[in-house]
Amino acid sequence: MNIWQQLPKPFLILAPMEGVTDILFRQVIASAGRPDLFFTEFTNVSSYASEKGRANALERLQIAPTDPPIIAQIWGKNPDHFSEVSSALLSLGFSGVDLNFGCPDKHVNKAGGGAAMIKTPELAVECFRNAHKSTELPVSIKTRLGWSDLNEYKTWLSILLAEHPAALTVHLRTKKEMSKVPAHYELIPDIIKLRDEISPETKLIINGDIRDHAHALELHQQYPEVDGFMIGRSVFQNPYCFTDHIPTRKELMELLKLHLDLYEKYTNGFLRSIATNGELLASATRNDGLARSGDEKTYSYTSSYEPLKHFFKIYVNNFPGAKELRAKLMETHSVSEACEIIKNT
Ligand SMILES: Cc1cc2nc3c(=O)[nH]c(=O)nc-3n(C[C@H](O)[C@H](O)[C@H](O)COP(=O)(O)O)c2cc1C
Repeated sequence: MNIWQQLPKPFLILAPMEGVTDILFRQVIASAGRPDLFFTEFTNVSSYASEKGRANALERLQIAPTDPPIIAQIWGKNPDHFSEVSSALLSLGFSGVDLNFGCPDKHVNKAGGGAAMIKTPELAVECFRNAHKSTELPVSIKTRLGWSDLNEYKTWLSILLAEHPAALTVHLRTKKEMSKVPAHYELIPDIIKLRDEISPETKLIINGDIRDHAHALELHQQYPEVDGFMIGRSVFQNPYCFTDHIPTRKELMELLKLHLDLYEKYTNGFLRSIATNGELLASATRNDGLARSGDEKTYSYTSSYEPLKHFFKIYVNNFPGAKELRAKLMETHSVSEACEIIKNT
């Protein structure tokens, strides 16, 4: 049984979000209350296939001890590069490969990837087939309803379903709509019908404007044929959104502290032992030069401190004095400065 067949129904997924759902943030969410499945941020297949880009791609494809089961999401437009990355993902410890055919970013689309695939369905199919034949892992797809016209979903999703992906995530908006209009829940029954007619074994995942665990259950009552629900931006309002728990100020501050600690640990690089089959053997240790056998791996995280500040609002929010505390934290230039402020609150 592949991972998609092992998940409960309905299952919940943290949406892949570039610059957000990295190896640090996934560990924070796992600590708050993990979803049934994680996805990585998307990784460019041509970057992985090039000598220059390989290290960066591998950094994005690092897996934390609390990540599995986790799906690697990839994007690009070169079918050979889809093969190359897909063939490596099993040994890196992933449970599946997801192809991003929905990103609306203009640089990504200009490069022919993400939602641009909607306009080149033959190429999309070729990339899917290449990925599929290069790995034993299940291959899934995440996409939108269409490029600009809402009705495109009928043809586009039918083309994808005819390839029998292990799972299909539909973000219920067109590329043109970005995230500016409410998700088109009214189309769910029609999409279920398409899935049932063309590829009943494909797990159907709905994405767009889902608030939390309770909201996902509500939608599941309404649409029991949907297998899973994917939550993206709501995690910014509530990092506990995969549970029914309402966090206290203390719990939110502990999450912030955890995020800061993880940042320190990963930017300093540390070692973890990995069994040959990719399973974790030992927990992380500081990179002190003690561990040196061939199957150990150094972890790295090369982002600077500034982008880390974007996360502060997630934790320092919705409690009295949050705004003032956040303003102080935004003035900081290092983890130690931020920790000092937290200690004194
Ligand atoms: C900051 C940000 C980064 C994103 N990066 C990705 C990505 O790497 N891969 C992807 O498939 N979707 C990406 N998305 C789209 C989300 O996965 C999701 O489809 C979208 O936010 C709609 O879900 P929501 O309404 O629950 O947020 C991104 C969204 C945001 C806000």
